[in-house]
Amino acid sequence: MKQSGSPVPAPEGKLGVLIVGLNGAVSTTFLAGVLSIGKKLAVPIGSLTQMGTIRIGKRSENNFPLIKDFVPLAELNDFIFGGWDIRNENCYQSALTAGVLKHEHIAPVKEELERIKPMKGVFEQHYVKRLSGEWIKEGGSKYEKMMMIREDIKDFKKKNKLDRLVMIWCASTEIFIPVNGVHHEQDKFEDAIKNNHADISPSMLYAYAAILEGVPFINGAPNLSCDVPALIELAKEKNVPIAGKDFKTGQTLVKTVIAPMLKAKMLGLRGWFSNNILGNRDGEVLDDPDSFKTKEESKLSVLDSILQPDLYPELYSDYYHKVRINYYPPRGDDKEGWDNIDIFGWMNYPMQIKIDFLCKDSILAAPLVLDLILFADLAQRIGMTGVQDWLSFFFKSPIHEADAVPEHDLFIQQMKLKNTLRKIMNIEPVSHIDYDPELVNSQA
Ligand SMILES: NC(=O)c1ccc[n+]([C@@H]2O[C@H](COP(=O)([O-])OP(=O)(O)OC[C@H]3O[C@@H](n4cnc5c(N)ncnc54)[C@H](O)[C@@H]3O)[C@@H](O)[C@H]2O)c1
Repeated sequence: MKQSGSPVPAPEGKLGVLIVGLNGAVSTTFLAGVLSIGKKLAVPIGSLTQMGTIRIGKRSENNFPLIKDFVPLAELNDFIFGGWDIRNENCYQSALTAGVLKHEHIAPVKEELERIKPMKGVFEQHYVKRLSGEWIKEGGSKYEKMMMIREDIKDFKKKNKLDRLVMIWCASTEIFIPVNGVHHEQDKFEDAIKNNHADISPSMLYAYAAILEGVPFINGAPNLSCDVPALIELAKEKNVPIAGKDFKTGQTLVKTVIAPMLKAKMLGLRGWFSNNILGNRDGEVLDDPDSFKTKEESKLSVLDSILQPDLYPELYSDYYHKVRINYYPPRGDDKEGWDNIDIFGWMNYPMQIKIDFLCKDSILAAPLVLDLILFADLAQRIGMTGVQDWLSFFFKSPIHEADAVPEHDLFIQQMKLKNTLRKIMNIEPVSHIDYDPELVNSQA
């Protein structure tokens, strides 16, 4: 810790970072970036923990420390990487295949990336139709495979002499599975695993294994995983933080900025058509209707939640919202997200907003992976357990307890996150209140 007298002790020792989907585009872009930052070859652009500041006290006091200097987070050089994939490649090979970073940016960390190799994944093609696994755990029931993941975690921890670990799902989007009876109570959930029930996906097995091993679990994809009632309960019982889901990176990031603007200005919405083209493996997986359905659900939930049609029926009760994702190989990881937004104003006069976001999916996702790992580790060290609402800033579809309403507005999410950090460090939250009764009375 950089401050004396801190309410949160500094982390000690190394932090194990276990990535599911270790060889994917997001993972390898994250790994190459963190290793380059460690060698001072790159700057952590896009990372809130590394580049973001936090205001302490009044604005006029001019006290804005970096978040990483304010809260005691793990150091990037203390990360030990590991994880699982269904492809038997080292991360250098995979970073080249992913085609996100140029060779000149991967070459300086080649040796480190070559040393990072995946353990065999738990995979069934039923859950990701467009992929076939070649490096997968064979034989055994779902329960036995879950126990194999637990063994992997224990071995990794022992081999690397680690006290702390975080697991993050950066693997492919699984098919849509609605929450149902098998996910509701812990004994039913365990029975369903033992009976190889079809509504238990591999991502749930990783999440279950992580929670049972006391390892914080983060889900970066839109599929159901740690966010089933049985696992939310278990996470609380085992004092494990969980967070998710679906990294908020491209089009939805923009949507959660524009929609609050419309609402703040009481402008109406008639339609929002969001179209995407992308050509990476994620795009290929999402070309399957069952995986797309999972993504669609995640992307669609955002607008209603922000615009609150119940409160503003004249403005938002009748808008048309459509999201399309098209697999278009020539683009690779360079996604293009178009938005056509039909709005209306004073006297019902129509207007339009057009957005064309030419982004790079994994470049936007990599810093989120970093921030989430650091915050999940912080949460566990200070005893924050179960669903971490304050991390909703990073997700398209924030997971929540049954009785909680998720927050989607990016700037409210940011305020929630920073005020949580202030509270953790025993600092007064920033309220932005302008009215001071004492001052008013003294002037009266
Ligand atoms: N890039 C973004 O901006 C963004 C935003 C939100 C969500 N996501 C999600 O993040 C995930 C990763 O995206 P990506 O572009 O890196 O995809 P990718 O296809 O490049 O990587 C996914 C990796 O997961 C592996 N995998 C699949 N199933 C597995 C299993 N059961 N166990 C272990 N490994 C498995 C694949 O072999 C692959 O290496 C996707 O689910 C994507 O939808 C990405």
